[in-house]
Amino acid sequence: MIYKFYQQHIFPHVLNQVMQTPSLMDKRRELLLPISGDVLEIGFGTGLNLPFYQQVNTLYALEPNPDIYHLAVQRVHEAPFEVQHIQAHAEKLPFADHSLDHIVSTWTLCSVANLETALDEIYRVLKVGGTFHLVEHVLHDQNLYIQRLQNLLTPIQKRLADGCHLNRNIQRALTDATLELRECTYFNAVGIPKIGQRMLLARAQKT
Ligand SMILES: C[S@@+](CC[C@H](N)C(=O)[O-])C[C@H]1O[C@@H](n2cnc3c(N)ncnc32)[C@H](O)[C@@H]1O
Repeated sequence: MIYKFYQQHIFPHVLNQVMQTPSLMDKRRELLLPISGDVLEIGFGTGLNLPFYQQVNTLYALEPNPDIYHLAVQRVHEAPFEVQHIQAHAEKLPFADHSLDHIVSTWTLCSVANLETALDEIYRVLKVGGTFHLVEHVLHDQNLYIQRLQNLLTPIQKRLADGCHLNRNIQRALTDATLELRECTYFNAVGIPKIGQRMLLARAQKT
């Protein structure tokens, strides 16, 4: 009961604050400014990406958790373009095959329960030549000590942060899903604890 209260009434506010860390907002800008047209964003969260879409027509805001989406509503109302909320999971996207030019994920692939299925779905609904744009925290690719800690603490992190895995190798998962990397940059995010600091900004294309 206390855990349910935490999940419904405390975690969404913590998420909303943490995800506004200035270095993360800078990465949102870098990722999203070049994107135009109709866009699907998976794990829309509290709507923090909205100010960075400059050339978008319709944004399909896929967010399964109503307690988190609740904190996005005001931002959605203020958006200068159409935003359609879709309450669904990335593992079962309610879109036709080959129907989208752009899909976005910002710190969502850590949280989807089944990463492989979600990436298969993203591949399915992208048009040939369509692009998946993402920025995610990842399994550390250089520091074995941090990698071990990430593996050790992921079960606790999943409980505290709504299913978030600290130890996902996102680049390998993209390649396994046969998405072709067009851009791939690793960085350490300023202002984030070392255990979740290693991040990947990438654009991957369905060819
Ligand atoms: C760490 S938050 C990131 C939120 C937002 N993308 C941002 O950048 O602030 C992860 C988000 O993924 C959502 N999520 C969790 N499981 C999901 C799934 N299976 N499919 C789509 N979204 C999911 C959560 O509800 C949450 O909003």
